[in-house]
Amino acid sequence: MSSSTYDVCALGNAIVDIVADVPETFLQQQHLVKGTASLVDRARITNLRKLIAKPRMMRAGGAASNTVAGIASFGGKPAYMGKVAYDESGKLFSDDMAKLGVRYPTEPVTDQNISTGMCLSFVTTGANRTMCTYLGASVDFGPGDIDSTVLKQSQIIYLEGYMLDKPNTREALQAAANNARAAGCKVGLALCDVSCVERNRETFLALIGATADIIFANEKELLALYKTFHLDAAIQHVKEHVKTAVVTRSEKGAIILDDKRLLNVSAEAVKVVDKTGAGDAFAAGYLYGLSKKLDASVCARLGVIAAGEIISHYGTRPEQSLATLAKQKGAL
Ligand SMILES: Nc1ncnc2c1ncn2[C@@H]1O[C@H](COP(=O)(O)OP(=O)(O)OP(=O)(O)O)[C@@H](O)[C@H]1O
Ligand SMILES: [Mg+2]
Repeated sequence: MSSSTYDVCALGNAIVDIVADVPETFLQQQHLVKGTASLVDRARITNLRKLIAKPRMMRAGGAASNTVAGIASFGGKPAYMGKVAYDESGKLFSDDMAKLGVRYPTEPVTDQNISTGMCLSFVTTGANRTMCTYLGASVDFGPGDIDSTVLKQSQIIYLEGYMLDKPNTREALQAAANNARAAGCKVGLALCDVSCVERNRETFLALIGATADIIFANEKELLALYKTFHLDAAIQHVKEHVKTAVVTRSEKGAIILDDKRLLNVSAEAVKVVDKTGAGDAFAAGYLYGLSKKLDASVCARLGVIAAGEIISHYGTRPEQSLATLAKQKGAL
């Protein structure tokens, strides 16, 4: 499928990330527990947002959108589908995708009672982050929002597991997986988070057994999927069901199961500043390599290089060209 228009088309919860520096007293006044991540409603996010006079950063976020940003930085051609609302944040999300060169065909929700999903990240001393997320319009993405032309023009479809949490997005994810399969695209699935795996274990297992060609997980997520304490046992299970499994292991790097072959890749030696987005960046490198038909060992190397770049500074987007960095390191 080398004639595909897009290397990777990702589907995910479209969220705008806003990072703000606040004093500890702010957290107390707002009854926020330092270091936690919570889901909040529209009224709460609106109130909290109003209290941020000057955000440190505002941009398109969400796991899969971070991954497409990484793919773009490698010089790949990504597409993204996910729902925002017709409001200021939705415009910011859409503009950000355009700036990155990501094809983003999804129409916004026009209901005025729904706003664009938002993640407020409050940074206090010691780089501590306290996060509040409102899923907003993102959970309204349904099967009807899938742009089947863009889907069919993509070599690989990458599905964000968080979409299994809500009925519309769950249906959309399953439909996209089936349509992609029928169109001959490769299907990648990210497990995203241990609690997401706990909530959706059966659906994940069904997708992995039937439609997914490649899964992305960190070690804890894979163990949770098969309810085991042993990585070897989890790898044995996954071997039965899926061709490729990409399992990241923080400072230990990653293990790749590719066609029954087991590969180990070491992590980059970097000073960790902010680990947020490490897994999403790894997926970007791996998917870019896969779209260029590179060997699994090279894909994995691109994964650790991308992840190493992301964790060496604040924020989930690369601060230098990942293509240039990978060339400097001899991986491309
Ligand atoms: N301390 C570290 N030192 C070097 N590399 C790291 C470190 N932590 C993470 N990485 C890199 O990031 C990749 C992904 O990390 P990890 O396995 O922690 O994923 P994750 O749990 O999905 O991350 P997150 O959810 O925080 O984005 C690793 O495979 C490795 O390449
Ligand atoms: Mg992760």
